[in-house]
Amino acid sequence: MKGLVLSGGKGTRLYPLTYTSAKQLIPVANKPILFRVIECIRDAGITEIGIVVGDTEQEIRRAVGRGDRWGVRITYIRQEAPLGLAHAVKISRDFIGDERFVMFLGDNVIQGGISNLISEFANSDYDCQIVLTHVDMPEQYGVAELDEQGRVVRLVEKPKDPPSDLALVGIYMFNHHIFEAVEHITPSWRGELEITDAIQWLIEHNYTVHPYIHRGWWIDTGRPGDMLEANSLVLEELTPCIEGYVDRTSQVDSRVIIEKGAEVINSVIRGPAIIGEHSRIINAYIGPFTSIYHHVVIENAEVSRSIVLEYSQIRDLDQRIEDSLIGRHVVIQRSPIRPRAYKFTLGDHSQLGLLGNG
Ligand code: TTP
Repeated sequence: MKGLVLSGGKGTRLYPLTYTSAKQLIPVANKPILFRVIECIRDAGITEIGIVVGDTEQEIRRAVGRGDRWGVRITYIRQEAPLGLAHAVKISRDFIGDERFVMFLGDNVIQGGISNLISEFANSDYDCQIVLTHVDMPEQYGVAELDEQGRVVRLVEKPKDPPSDLALVGIYMFNHHIFEAVEHITPSWRGELEITDAIQWLIEHNYTVHPYIHRGWWIDTGRPGDMLEANSLVLEELTPCIEGYVDRTSQVDSRVIIEKGAEVINSVIRGPAIIGEHSRIINAYIGPFTSIYHHVVIENAEVSRSIVLEYSQIRDLDQRIEDSLIGRHVVIQRSPIRPRAYKFTLGDHSQLGLLGNG
């Protein structure tokens, strides 16, 4: 089998972070989501992986390379515009050839890996296997309707009146018949070739579409809140390890990772949390579910349930930063210059929550 990872798209819901960089490279628990996806596919025994890329191709190539680090071989497939998930399949035909393959959205994080679903599909004669999971608000997802025998009858995108609470997880398995399907469908109202339409075509032409019900958590990291949620869930599963320096006056919980070259001075760190390489935490508090990436400085400040990206600095704050996604090279500090006022340099689409006077 081969793997196909979708890493094009625009990531508009994560502006401004994704103005300057690929959403799939945002780290969750200090590892880019795309790396987690590649590892997930590799751990299921697949070593030939195609990555569909768009405008952020160069950045993704720089970060991922040829795949040697994971023992896989990466092929890049350029998509000229984000014309839909089924369009990404269509342009990957030469790479896939006649093999069966798993398609994985490069911004999805799933608990427990995909080895089970891959081996179920590999040992079957299904033409397609979709992964479904029970969700609270099915109207926000692609939803599957199953018949009494548990077969997939219909797929609907964001239905007003959902036929079930089974949402499509961003992992799909196909054989070569999907290439016939993508040739027959037409763009949807949003101008994209929809993978749900292609799968619906398979169902209507009597190909076997098997539903695999996933029981653990799964996060599609489209919006900042999803990133924080994925970060919390992954942090819960990491094995603690202290490789950096912690001074005697600091208190570090048992569920904390301190990476190489990091320093924790006179600070409190409550797990689960991770402090990245060469970051410095000085007279500070880092609360649970926080990931501090590499070369960050947090000094005289408190940060909780947040992600702070590389080379950022947070200093001398009276109030705790919470539920925040902070980009690269960001500086947040109290200004010594009068008049006392908030002074910002914020990118387009930035969001800032300020405390009221009350
Ligand atoms: P989406 O989250 O549906 O789209 P997006 O990344 O453009 O985000 P937004 O809606 O915020 O603008 O895409 C899911 C994944 O598939 C993501 O990793 C990007 C990738 N993708 C492609 O590679 N090609 C495409 O044509 C589309 C639509 C998405």
